[in-house]
Formats: sequence, structure tokens, C-alpha cells
Amino acid sequence: MKKVLFILTTAVIVMACGGGSTEAGKAADGAKEATASAGNSLSDNPDYQKGLALVAGSDCLTCHKTSEKNIGPAYKDVAAKYENTEANIKMLAEKIMKGGSGNWGAIPMTPHPQLKQEDVEQMVKYVLLLKK
Ligand code: HEC
Repeated sequence: MKKVLFILTTAVIVMACGGGSTEAGKAADGAKEATASAGNSLSDNPDYQKGLALVAGSDCLTCHKTSEKNIGPAYKDVAAKYENTEANIKMLAEKIMKGGSGNWGAIPMTPHPQLKQEDVEQMVKYVLLLKK
């Protein structure tokens, strides 16, 4: 009985460690890719870094990808459509907080009233920096 327990415990430990390290490895690869594709000047920009952290910490990435259309438009397409101006940052921040539809299709974006105005503006600054 003791032997069986020992084998079981070992198997669990091996599985737990194996799974954990692959996941961590994948996350690290993803981070490396993101930095590489963004290029140095962009990833050095504090507006980019702060905005990316906020976007990653919110629910945005369930609907948005950087360069491909998902449920919402690709952030690169948003960046291509709007000029990086104070007025557009305010306007887009308001859309994210209140929700919006009709600019990219029939699917609406859910409102985000829980977010702070300044944080949302920071997210928009990041998005608009993705212009090619
Ligand atoms: C439930 C899915 C969903 C989530 C979550 C979501 N979005 Fe969206 N987003 C959309 C859709 C759909 C559109 C297109 C709306 C339209 O056609 O006007 C959109 C549009 C946008 C636009 C362009 C708005 C315009 O008028 O052109 C920006 C910028 C944006 N989202 C940023 C964000 C950010 C930042 C977050 C996280 C706080 C976020 N989105 C979370 C689905 C989502």
C-alpha cells in the first residue's frame, strides 16, 4: 500500500511540475514574441508599456487581438483608422467606458464603467501606437 502511495505521489509531483513549467515557458515565449514584433522604439515607449499592461489586465483581449480581427476589430486596424490626437483618445476612451457599436460591424462592445477614465485613455494611447 505504501508503495502505491509513493508511486502515485511521485506521478502527481511530476505531472504538476511538468505542466507548470510548460505553461510558464509558453508565457515567456509569448512575451518575447510581443517584444520582438513591437520593435525596440515602441516597447521603450512608456505609453505603450503602461497601456499594454492595462489592456492585458482587463478583459480587452478576450475580444481584441493586436493584428487580427476577433470579436472586435484588430488594434492595428483601430490605429490605422484614427489619428493619434487628444480628441480621438477622449472619444475612444468614452466608447470603451460606455460601450459602442456600428463602427466596425453589428457586434457591440460591452461597456466598461468600472474602469478609470485615465486608465482607459492610457489603453487607447497604446492602441493608437500600433499604427504601422
Ligand atoms: C465583449 C467583447 C469586447 C470587449 C471585452 C472589449 N471590446 Fe473593444 N470592441 C468590441 C467590438 C465588437 C468593437 C466594435 C464596435 C463597433 O463596431 O463600433 C470594439 C471596438 C473597440 C475600439 C474602437 C471603437 C471605435 O469606435 O472605433 C477600441 C479602441 C476598443 N474596442 C478597445 C477596447 C479596450 C481597450 C477594451 C478593454 C477595456 C475592449 N475594447 C474590450 C468588443 C469588445
